[in-house]
Order: sequence, then structure tokens, then C-alpha cells
Amino acid sequence: MLRRQFSLRGKPLRATLRWSALGLADFFLNGQRVSDGCLLPGWSDYRKRVQVVTADVTQLLDSGANMLGAVLADGWYCGYQLWHGERNHFGEHPQLFAALDIDLQDGSHIRVKTDGTWEMRSSPTISADLYHGEIHDSRLDDPGWCLRKSPRKGWRKAMVFPDYPGHMDPKINEPPRVTEMLAPVTVTPTGPRRYLVDFGQNIAGVCRIWVREPKGRRITLRFAEMLESKDSLYTANLRTAKATDVYICRGGGEEWAPRFTMHGFRYVEISGVTKVPTANSLAALVIHSDMPPTGKFECSHPDLNRLQENIRWGLRGNFLDVPTDCPQRDERLGWTGDAQVFVGTAAFHYDVRRFFQKWMRDLRDGQRSDGAFPDVAPNLLTGFGNAAWADAGVICPWKIYWHYGDTEILRENYQAMKRWLAFVEATSRDLIRPPTSYGDWLAIDAVTPSRAPVPSEFVGTAYFAHTADLMQRIATVLGHSSDARRFATLRDRVRRAFQREFVTPGTRMVGHCQTAYLLALAFDLLPAAKRPVALAHLVDLLQSRNNHLTTGFIGTPLLCPVLSRFGHNDLAYTVLLKETYPSWLYSIRNGATTMWERWNSYTREDGFGPVNMNSFNHYAYGAIGEWMTSVIGGIRPIQPGFRQVLFAPRPGPGVTSASTTLKIAEGTLECHWQLESGRLKIAVHVPAGITARIEPPAGFSGKMPSRIPTGSSAWEFSAPAGHGSMK
Ligand code: BGC
Repeated sequence: MLRRQFSLRGKPLRATLRWSALGLADFFLNGQRVSDGCLLPGWSDYRKRVQVVTADVTQLLDSGANMLGAVLADGWYCGYQLWHGERNHFGEHPQLFAALDIDLQDGSHIRVKTDGTWEMRSSPTISADLYHGEIHDSRLDDPGWCLRKSPRKGWRKAMVFPDYPGHMDPKINEPPRVTEMLAPVTVTPTGPRRYLVDFGQNIAGVCRIWVREPKGRRITLRFAEMLESKDSLYTANLRTAKATDVYICRGGGEEWAPRFTMHGFRYVEISGVTKVPTANSLAALVIHSDMPPTGKFECSHPDLNRLQENIRWGLRGNFLDVPTDCPQRDERLGWTGDAQVFVGTAAFHYDVRRFFQKWMRDLRDGQRSDGAFPDVAPNLLTGFGNAAWADAGVICPWKIYWHYGDTEILRENYQAMKRWLAFVEATSRDLIRPPTSYGDWLAIDAVTPSRAPVPSEFVGTAYFAHTADLMQRIATVLGHSSDARRFATLRDRVRRAFQREFVTPGTRMVGHCQTAYLLALAFDLLPAAKRPVALAHLVDLLQSRNNHLTTGFIGTPLLCPVLSRFGHNDLAYTVLLKETYPSWLYSIRNGATTMWERWNSYTREDGFGPVNMNSFNHYAYGAIGEWMTSVIGGIRPIQPGFRQVLFAPRPGPGVTSASTTLKIAEGTLECHWQLESGRLKIAVHVPAGITARIEPPAGFSGKMPSRIPTGSSAWEFSAPAGHGSMK
């Protein structure tokens, strides 16, 4: 704990606190909490940058003595990170920066800032770590530590470190906050004073307890996503993360939630409590970056609704200042590949514009001098320039621009993106990418997670062409026409190189697997004449698996979009609605409340998947969400920011109605459809300022205006003869 007492000659007119930390901090003024949010100031590449939080504290100050204080913890700066059991990845000592600027009514100005006049002492929070949990001994609590006049006993001079050499940027994204509280769904006694609690939903956050126990009683909370048996937690997949919180009671009625840790969990084992936990004594607090929610999707198929919910929970479990792979094990990193496949889906559910603007900074901070983007941002690893992962540096800004229609993110990242493309070009041979890590990560037939049937050179070259294509579009948007021409030429050359290297004259692809054909079709890598053959191979490959997917992180997001785009919309529905392994709905049949990392994270035959890497809250396969809202839901942007929108729901077997809404800057877009007795009714809502069209599925007939009026309107189309007999 750190604090500084100061005195004011009068009442303040205005007072602003600007603060940051290498680590995590919780600020107080005269005993009142200042920080709005949790785990602040958040996670950035501390070697280069910290985020500065601003708070208006005018109301908390008074004339006379005042006390400003903060509790400081290790957090992402010097807490445990990664799986080697090591800490101090960015530095050794947590540090605090604060500047409190006060304008007094007499016109004078006072600044109180962190310096050698601060004092410090250790806090009742004995240890706090993001992976391992928090230990709090409330017998040591001193409720008066940050009051105006607080005794100095036990406090010593704070340590002063040299000035921070990096950038101190205002925090631009929403702070993490508790956005929801969940009550126990079931409580099972598992031993003396021990209970296993199911919250019914896999989340990221912490628990809050309200207890009345004797002084010195230790209450221990252990967290898990799954159960080993009906009365024990499955914690093996957390690897070295202890995910354990301990609270030592001071006696009497007390309430506690940790401040400097978080866990990925659905289940909690609580021990040390005399009474059976209820909603009055135990709650799960959902924590994530508090972005405004924007999209809602519902359809006639309950499992698809659950899937979309699981996707949304996957986002909520992993968007904590950084888009992470998972919230539970000793990893929780800003993996670039995961983020780039999911960004479009994320933008439907929440307003992620500022979140990604901030994360792109982290990614640029990690970019190597030769232009290679890192595997994770903020960077903590040694991997750079890996196919489909590093490409996040171009794909994420493009997707954010497309969804929100603001060119700022393109401008901010343009030079970094160009350097990435130059790196890719310089390190390719005859425009073919070298082998790199990951490829179609975790594909069904992969021999190791990164050795899928489609070689990583193939994935890399496909992404090279795709990224060059996006760069051509980005340069055009920004008015850099000579760059745009150069990137278009590069894209065409890479496409030809791709065809030469990976496609036989008979249009068979190296790897001959679903993902190979998906990449070629999704990224337009084939001459038009060859597409039907590639598509036929894809359909054959699906049929040979009884319409099951075999795709990993890279192929999966492309599967339904490619099938729908190239005339196999019904097959897209069939694949999506499969309930047997491997499929999206298999996890739902097995009780999933979030997206799983692997298709076989759990199977009925083999139980839990490979324990060395098995998360039950990994959003990558949730990338299907974007197809669901645009193809089932029917809301598609034709212009960036949905300024021109196309309502084009594409019903398919198994779904008879859908209802989708999306908040955009101008208002709310809505598309509700119902297919009944051969008639497709579509009701839409168009906010003022948006141009909209409607397009029924092929063969459907009816009055079709060239432009949909502003406001709400309804349209009806008749199905072609024979419709409904589709497989
Ligand atoms: C992560 C992934 C990530 C991958 C790299 C894993 O440990 O959890 O989601 O993309 O490594 O391939």
C-alpha cells in the first residue's frame, strides 16, 4: 500500500487524478475508492508503454488534510506469466505513477504526484497473482489506512525508481468491470465445511463472499471449468495455474472479493464455511472489458441459440484488455491467430472498436524491426511472422474499419502493415512462404497440433495473397494509389505462384483436405474456371466424413462462408447442425457453455482431451458466429460501417425463422424472417442515414424494391416450386 497526505487551503474547484502502474493498482482518496473498474490500468507492452487512467476526484477532496493512497500488485507486469513457472517478465518491482491536479477556488493550482514523499507498507493482501490467486488476511485490515488523518505508525518511506522511459498514453479502451453477478445453481456438500458449487456458466472473473465465521478461519476457493467426478474439480488443464483464493476471517459479518486476480471457471470448491453457500453468501462476478453490447441473434433452432450464447460468453471470458486465447490456464495470452479469426464475430456482439484500437498498439509495440509481427501481443514469446497469426496485423484493422466505417485504425496501422507485407515478401522464395508454425492448428487429422494435412507453406502463401489483397484495398481507402497498384500486382503474382506450387493441373491441392480447398476458394486464389472442381473436391471431402468438418483454427472460420457463397448453403447448414463428433453442436450436446479449444476437448469415448493444452473457453471456433448473423441472420454490410446494408437471409434446412439486431452508429438494424408454407416473410428496420436493399434467396419471387425505406417495413417472397424438399 502506498499513500501521501497533503493539505488544501480551501475547497477544490476541480481535481483530476491521472495514474498508471507497472502492475495493477486500486486507488483511494480519503477512504473512498477512486478506480472505476478492475485490474487497472490494464495490460500493455510495459517495455514501451503504459496506459494512463483519468478520474475526476473533485467531490472526494476537502479543505484541510487529505489522503491519497493505492494498493499495488504484480499483475501482468511482474506476476507469473507463461508455463515455465516464472515471473518478472517485464520487470521486477511493481511501480505506481500518479499526478493529482487540483484547482482551488482562490485560483491557485496544486499538483500532488508520486515522489519520495509517499509512504508505504505491506497490505493485508499477502499475495496476489493473476494465475495463482489471492491470499487476504483480513485480521490485518486497517480500514483507516487512507483516511484524512491516519496514524503514521507502521509506514515507511516509499522506494523511488528512475522515471519511466516509455510512453504514457491515455487509456483508450473501456476498463474491465464486473458486468454481471451469477448465483450458485447447485451446491453439493463434499466434506466437512466443504462444498462444490456450480454457477451453470463458464466465465472469467472472481467470487465474492459474505460470511460470518470465527476470527482466523481460512476460507479457500478453488476454481475449475469442469468436474473430474460429481464431487471433485477437474484442474489438470489449468497446468501450473493454482487458481486458488484464500480469505482469512477477522470475525463478524464480512464481505470479500479479490482485486488482483481472475480465474476461468464454472465450478468453485469452497471450504472453511460453516453454512451451506447460497446466493446470499457466494456470487460469481463476471469481469471483462466493459464494451457496449451491440448485437443479438436468435433463431428457431435452440442449439444454434446456445451456440451463439457460447460464442458471446467466449468473448466475455477472453476480452480482458487484451483478446486472450483462454482465461484459465497458465497462458491467457493475446494470441494473434485467435484474434484475427474472431474479430468479425466479436464486432457483432460488442462495440470492440476501441478495444482493438488499443490492442493494435500492443501488436505494433511487439513488431520486430524487420517488420515481423509477434505471435502474441503484448509480446512475451519468441515466435514471429507465423502464417495466419502474424497476419492479424493487417486483418484486424481491416475488419474493424469494415464494421465501424472509421479509417482511423487503418491510418494508425498503415506503416506497420506495410512493413509486415514487406517482410513477407522479402522472406518468401519465389513468392512462396517458408514453413512456419501453427498452420491449420488443431485440425482433426493433424499429427501434432501444428502439423495439419495442409502444409504451413500453403497456409502462409494463401495468407500472403490475402494480406496483399487487403493491403491493396486499404491503400485505396487511404488514397495511396501507387501503393495500391503495387499491392494489387503483388497479390496477382502471389496467386499465380500459389497455383503453380500447390494446385495440380486437375485442380487437386497439396494436402487434399477441407482447409486446402477452403483457403483457395475463400481467398479467391484460383482462376474462375477451376473453382467448380475445387468446390467439388471440398464437397466430396465433407461427404466422405458424413458431412463432418476436419478443419482447425484456420479452415473452420471459412467453412460455412465458402459453402454458402458458392451455392452450397444447405450443406453449410448440414455441417453446422451435425451433433456427432466433430462438430459445433457436439460440444453443446455435452453441456458446453463456452467454446472449446479443441473439437475433442471432451468426448464421450475418451473423456477429456490432451491435458497439456485443453481449454474450455477458447473462442477461435466461435468464428462461425459471423456467418450465423450474416447468412442465417441476414444482415450484411455492403459499405464500411453498414452505411449500405443488404438484408439477405439465407434459410436452410433445420431453421425456419431468425431474428437479428445490430446497433450501429446511426441506430439499430433489424432483420426478422420466418419461412412458413413456402412463404418467406422478412421484417426489417433501417435507421435514418442508412441505405438498405433486400435480396431474397435464389428462386424466391416477390415485390423487391430497389431501396428499403427508412424505419420498419415488411416484405414477403414465395419459395420456388419444390422448395422444402431440400436435403
Ligand atoms: C493457444 C492458441 C494459440 C496457439 C498457437 C496455444 O497454446 O492456446 O490458441 O493460437 O497456442 O498456435
